[in-house]
This record gives sequence, structure tokens and C-alpha cells, in this order.
Amino acid sequence: MITNTELENKGNLFPTKILNFKKDVDTLYFYTDNDVILQLKVVRDSVLRFRYTTVGNFDNDFSYAITKYASTGYNKLEIKGEEDKYIITTSKLRCEILKQGMRVSMYDVKDNTLINEDEIGFHWEESYEYGGNIVKMSKVSQDGESYYGLGDKPNHLNLKGKRYTNWVTDSYAYGKDTDPIYKDIPFYTGLHNNKAYGIFFDNTFQSFFDFAHERRNVTSFWAQGGEMNYYFFYGPKMTDVVESYTDLTGKPHQLPPMWALGFHQCKWSYYPEAKVKEITSTFRKLKIPCDAIYLDIDYMDGFRCFTWDKEHFPDPKRMVKELEDDGFKTVVIIDPGIKIDKDYWVFKEGLENDYFCKRADGAHMKGKVWPGECYFPDFTKPEVRDWWSGLFKELIEDIGVKGVWNDMNEPAVMEVPNKTFPDDVRHDYDGNPCSHRKAHNVYGMQMARATYHGLKKFRYPKRPFVITRAAYSGTQRYTSTWTGDNIASWEHLWIANIQAQRMAMSGFGFAGSDIGGFAEQPQGELFTRWIQLGIFHPFFRVHSSGDHGDQEPWAFDEDVTDIVRKFIEIRYQLLPYLYTAFWNYVDHGTPMLKSLVLYDQEDVHTHYRTDEFVFGEHILACPVLEPNAKGRRMYVPKGQWFNYWTDEVVKGGKEMWVDADIDSMPIFVKEGAIIPKYPIQQYVGEKEINEITLDVYYKKGKEDSELYSDANDGYDYTKGRYSLRNFRLTGRKNELIINQFKEGKYVTEYQDFRLIIHGLPFTIEEIEIDNQTISLERLSNDGIYSLVVDKNFSELHLKGNELN
Ligand code: GLC
Repeated sequence: MITNTELENKGNLFPTKILNFKKDVDTLYFYTDNDVILQLKVVRDSVLRFRYTTVGNFDNDFSYAITKYASTGYNKLEIKGEEDKYIITTSKLRCEILKQGMRVSMYDVKDNTLINEDEIGFHWEESYEYGGNIVKMSKVSQDGESYYGLGDKPNHLNLKGKRYTNWVTDSYAYGKDTDPIYKDIPFYTGLHNNKAYGIFFDNTFQSFFDFAHERRNVTSFWAQGGEMNYYFFYGPKMTDVVESYTDLTGKPHQLPPMWALGFHQCKWSYYPEAKVKEITSTFRKLKIPCDAIYLDIDYMDGFRCFTWDKEHFPDPKRMVKELEDDGFKTVVIIDPGIKIDKDYWVFKEGLENDYFCKRADGAHMKGKVWPGECYFPDFTKPEVRDWWSGLFKELIEDIGVKGVWNDMNEPAVMEVPNKTFPDDVRHDYDGNPCSHRKAHNVYGMQMARATYHGLKKFRYPKRPFVITRAAYSGTQRYTSTWTGDNIASWEHLWIANIQAQRMAMSGFGFAGSDIGGFAEQPQGELFTRWIQLGIFHPFFRVHSSGDHGDQEPWAFDEDVTDIVRKFIEIRYQLLPYLYTAFWNYVDHGTPMLKSLVLYDQEDVHTHYRTDEFVFGEHILACPVLEPNAKGRRMYVPKGQWFNYWTDEVVKGGKEMWVDADIDSMPIFVKEGAIIPKYPIQQYVGEKEINEITLDVYYKKGKEDSELYSDANDGYDYTKGRYSLRNFRLTGRKNELIINQFKEGKYVTEYQDFRLIIHGLPFTIEEIEIDNQTISLERLSNDGIYSLVVDKNFSELHLKGNELN
């Protein structure tokens, strides 16, 4: 027994015997004699959807998580009935359903390996208190099985042995193991016998996952209401599982503008205008690259959304323009609570149009947040979302704000024990009226969605940028995210590293933490180590609560400033590399951060690693997570890797000590990689970029790398105006060949590539580009070879004599 209502213990109920089945194109229905129906839909050969009802018919099929752009279609679907079971076969999976008890098992169709099987399978308990059921599923946890995913859980990357709750919660100063926190991403990947599968439990009620915690050989998930409704994804590669889940729940609708991948500086709060300017001009004076400056709640008039405090910000339009002229994009916070104030236009509009949430008996949902007593828009109503989007017109179109930060959207309510709305609050849920029990976990997502549409409209033809704290599966389509109110501690640096990796394998890649910690104040050393990690997080922002001292890169001692600058500069150099990884994420759902298990699931050493990860396709990073460290031990995955700082080649597949004094961190580049780099800029677009550096790392054998470029903003890339360059490196004893394959219509600003050749085992005696021999004078060699070539070369050969 997993959970019971307190009021009445009805006990677990089970499907009895399947009496018959029906097939309707891609969907199969199995009927038991106690009114249970299993609806099994073949979404793709490797993706099946399981949906159960206990009352003989299904609710309206509606989900906020699933995107209309999800791929569908399969090559094969066969169903066969045997005496005791049904067998459904696709080109990837064989699914067996026992007639007695409806238990399901899943096999790899090719080699018959058992991938996943129901233990007691689907069962339920009636809820006397609310009506409906508590729906439950129990599966066998296989020998040596590991589990990953579930969004932002702040503990060990491998979920095995733990139980979790999904209930989006404002969690100021949460700690390791606090559960739940801000997000509900009910998706996990299971891995055993080198085969990975995923389960996405698309149910927005409070849900629970137990990974072999209560019983060693059982993994269960259940929810306080709604349907047992889950998707099963088969890999066997973990990356395929994550990509399939991301395909179903959506990739970001567009690439972020490139500036959003730069460095962001934030604090609660920078005001008045003179303070904001002091911060931005210090960045420029100290030559620390930065693209975005944030205004937290104090920019508003009494915390009223869509207003300005005119005393501190007398002319926001001028200020935003001046900041922009200096290369800074202004991002402002917008919370969901609307102050109850009959003279405030947003409140009046909301009230007149009946846009605010109400309690079961008709009164408005009233709760305290920063502005005092507030009403809250029902973002689950399409009309309300349209209204909300429209509210951004002045802020974005007229004042020129470039990004919006949605906070407190769990929704957070102050001074109440449950920190949010009571259960009885009513929601439209896009025409499927329900209580807060069902809508709670999607409230923040729908707010971010409405904000996104506002930005999209009023920023057009530029791309929108939104950031949210609360999220449900699918929120990645609209916005970036951060991990909420963490603490300036070494433990939180460990947590931040795990959360960013976990979010990446939960389909939500554009994520980062409050660098340095939100609550309390870091020492310079912790801040430095956190920046070092942060340069590898897609969302790269310093934020702090501000009441514990300053947290700008110059708030510590000069050494800190210099090291922080050096690392932020590396981030700016790597922008074309990160942008390419982002394009791969937007295009195929490929995670931008790969935990070692995602990178090499075959190697069991990776299954319990937490600290090391691969950024993009070829860079291995491992933060230093302890004070006073001169380096650390880390696991380098199989293959040969170049130390980023020294070019020393190491053979992976083992744990090793890596030197990393405070001005360094363990970074390795995979042999054969070609890493594109920009020159250092103070902000994206500062310089005209005529040349991109390609750091070429020799490998004996072949390796592919990519470089994606476009206008760095706007939508032209969706019409083919992008440039995708695929580089194939082939290394031999005394020859290095690079083939380039080009795609797309975009003419890049850069004309040339500067190749820097690392680790060449021979001296270059001959250069040939597209069948032409090139003078050796073009080659420079100051310990390392470099050569400038036209960006459109197709085939380049470097030949020479082997070094002794
Ligand atoms: C919440 C947010 C934090 C923000 C603060 C004030 O605590 O998580 O980032 O600075 O509210 O708006």
C-alpha cells in the first residue's frame, strides 16, 4: 500500500480480467469486467501511451504538456491475442498485456530483452474526500537499475532509493534533499542492462515517485487525482529517451537571441537609476563582459506589475535606451499577484472582465504577496492569457525592455501555512473547469506562456526572452528557468551542478542557478568556483537577495575580479559553440549538458557520478566543489581527452587527480573535436566578427563537429537563412584532413577561420586546400600551429613528417 486517504481507507482496487479489445487505427482499447479500460496508443514505434479509466469512459483528453508539433507515426503495429495475453508489436517494442490483472511488460523487439514490467501494475483507491481516484502504478525495479530525471530535485543525480513529491512550491533557502521545490517534471529515465527507457506521467495533480525506496524491487508512481496516463519511451540509448520526451513535450519554440546566452547580472534590487548605471558602467570600466541587467520588484510603484516607481526611475524609456547603447539589455520582473487597488488599471481591468481566480463558493482568491493583498489572474483561461500578453505592450514596445522574469508563480502566497492557494480555488483549465488540486502545478507554466506570447508579439521581429521559476513539463517551449532561492554555500554549488544536469535530462535545457547563492553571502572563493561552473550553464546569471552584501564580480578582492573576468571571457569565446549546442537542442531536443551517464551509459562507472558533465558535444567540465582546493579527483570518461589548459592528452575510463588552483578548473576537450570560438567581446554584437577561431584537436581516426550560425536574433533562420557547417576530422600518422559540408542560405559575417592545431604528432611540410598547394608561409608556429583559411574550404590537408 502506498498512500491512503485519511478519511476512508477503501484499499487498493485492481483491474480484473480483460474480456475483449478493440482497435481504432493507432489506438487499442482493452476492457475488463469491472469497467476498467486501458487505452494504448502507439505514438511512435518506440513511444506508447497508456491511459486507464475505472468508470467505463475517459475524461476529455487535454494536456498542457504535449506539443502539437510532436512527431507521430510508426512503421509497424500488430496485435495478437493468446490464451492468457495480448501481444502488441511495433518495429521497436513488443508489449505484452496479461488478460488477468492487465499487467504490462515491455521487450526490445530485436533481442527480446525485458525492458520494463508491471509489478502489481495499475491500481487505484477511491477518494472519498474529493471524488475520483488516487491512481497508482507499480513496476518492477530490475537488478542494477538506475533512475534519472524529475526536473529540479536537489539531491543525488541517481534517484534510486528515494521517494519524491511533485508539487510546485516556493522554497526560499531550500537545502539538499528538500522536496518538493519549484518544478513538477514527472518524467524519469530508467537504465539497466545498458538499455534505457523513459516514463512521463502526464498528470498535473500532486504526484509521487518511489524509486525502490519503500520496497527494494519496486518503483511506483501515483497521483492524488486524475487519470493514470503515462507515456513510455524506449531508447535503448538514454539520449534517445530524453530526445523523445523533449519531442513530445516540446523543444523551445525558437532559439534564444544570442545575447541571452551572455552573462546576466541581477540583484534584489538595483535602484534607483543611478545605481543601475553605476553597476553597468563598472562592468564596462573593468572590462567584464555582460549582456543583461535585471530590475527586481523595487522598480515598480508599490510592487504593482506594469508600473514604474517614478521617483527612482523617472524616465524608464530613456534609461533602457541608454543601457542598450552601452550594450545592456534590460530584463524586468513581473509577478502574478495583482494588488487590490481600485485606482490601479491592471486591477480594474482584471476585475471588470472577471479574470481573477475565485474560491469554490464564488469569492475572489485573495492572498498576500509583495504588494500586500492581491488577486491572481487565472492563467489557465485562454482569454486571460491573451489579456496578460497584451499588458506587455508598453513595457516592451514603447519602453524597450528586452526580457521578462516571471517569479512567485507557483503561485506563492505569503503568511499561509501551505504557501499557495487553497485546494478549492477554481480554474478554467482551458475549458475543463477544475479545482486548484489539478491546476496548481501548471499555474506558473501558463503564466510564463502568456508572458512569452506578449514578448513574442511586442519584440517582433526580434526573439522573445522569458525566465520563469515555476514549471510543469513542456514549459521549456516558452521560457528559460532558474533554480530559485538557493544559498551561498559549498553544498549549494554541488546542488546547482546537479540541478542543471538534471534539468537537461528532463528536457528543460535553458537553465541555471543564482550564481554565488541567493540567500547569505559567498566568500570570494565560493563565488569564483560558482562562476567557473556557471560558464557552462546555458542560463548564466548572478543573483542575490541583496541584504547580505554585494555580489558583483568586483565585490570581493581583485584576484577574484581577475579570475571571474577570465572565465566570463571563456564563456564569450565559446558562444558560437554553445549556440550550436542550443540549435541542436531546439532542432532535435539534444541535451546541451550531458551527465556522464547520458554521455556513456555503457560504462557503469558513470551511473553514480554527479560532478562531471559534457557541455555540448566535446567539452568535459568538472567544477571544484570544496574550499582551499588545489585540484580534485574526477572521473574522465572513456576516450582520449586534451587538458584545456595544457594540451596534455589523458586517457579516460578512470578516476584521476586534476590540478585546478583557484584560477583554473578541470576542463577537457575530446580528441578530434573542432571548437569554434569568438573573439572576446564586452557584449554580444559589440564587434564585427570577421574571423572565427577553430581550435582543432588532433585525433588518430575520425570525429565530427558542427558550427551553426545565423543572424543571432530574429526569425530569418526559420526560412533557411542559417549556416550549418559540419567538419569531419580525419587524423593519420602524418596527415590531418578536415572536410567541410555546408548547409543553409545565411551568409555569415565572418570570412575566415583561424585554425589552431592542438596535439599534432608531426611537423607540417605541406598544406593543401581544395586541391591547391598553399605556401607554408601562411602557417605560423609559436609552439602551436595556426593558419587562416577561407571559411568556405571543402577539404584541407596538413601533411608532414612524424615527430620522434
Ligand atoms: C523571490 C525570487 C527572487 C527575487 C525575490 C524578489 O524570492 O525567487 O529571485 O529576487 O523573490 O522579487
